Amino acid sequence: MVWLTGLPSAGKTTLARLLGDELRGRGRAVEVLDGDEVRRHLTSGLGFSKADRDENVRRVAWVAGLLARHGVVAVVAMISPYRAARDEARAASPDFVEVHVDCAAEECIRRDVKGLYRRALAGEIANFTGVSDPYEPPLRAEVTVRTDGESPARSLGRILDALEERGCLGAAGTVAPWTS
Ligand SMILES: Nc1ncnc2c1ncn2[C@@H]1O[C@H](COP(=O)(O)OP(=O)(O)OP(=O)(O)O)[C@@H](O)[C@H]1O
Ligand SMILES: [Mg+2]
Repeated sequence: MVWLTGLPSAGKTTLARLLGDELRGRGRAVEVLDGDEVRRHLTSGLGFSKADRDENVRRVAWVAGLLARHGVVAVVAMISPYRAARDEARAASPDFVEVHVDCAAEECIRRDVKGLYRRALAGEIANFTGVSDPYEPPLRAEVTVRTDGESPARSLGRILDALEERGCLGAAGTVAPWTS
């Protein structure tokens, strides 16, 4: 599974969608598990405490594992701010590829795709990652993309390169099974 982690507005959803489209174009079955949809459909009862965020990650990792077991490439796009929870997901998956979607906080605040930074900075939202809640960056992500310094297409290319390097994509133009 491919696990994208990063600050709000860093580019996780954008890259997950691009990666999903690219892999589908290569004949792979793909499911994108995006934080917003996950919270709407799978974990709607959970909030934003550390315990709830960790439980959110645990449930998504479990579902992604089920998909992976059937040859589906699970692309997870979640802030997933706590390192230990991500490492737990990694430990449970034979093919975990962690992508650090890295972007300077100032640029994330400038983008403010959903207008939530503005509200968090105004004190209207508690436990907002990057403002009033911690983000623990990965220490050994398989790939780090700097979305404040490169285009989405370039970031996608770097993720694909990393997947290719790890033998996850098969030979060019083929659709070898996801290695596990
Ligand atoms: N290299 C890049 N990769 C991804 N997004 C980029 C890049 N460069 C600029 N952007 C822009 O940054 C924004 C990222 O928004 P996106 O919704 O993908 O963030 P997110 O990480 O999913 O945020 P959230 O955690 O709030 O869901 C988009 O407007 C996108 O076009
Ligand atoms: Mg998103």
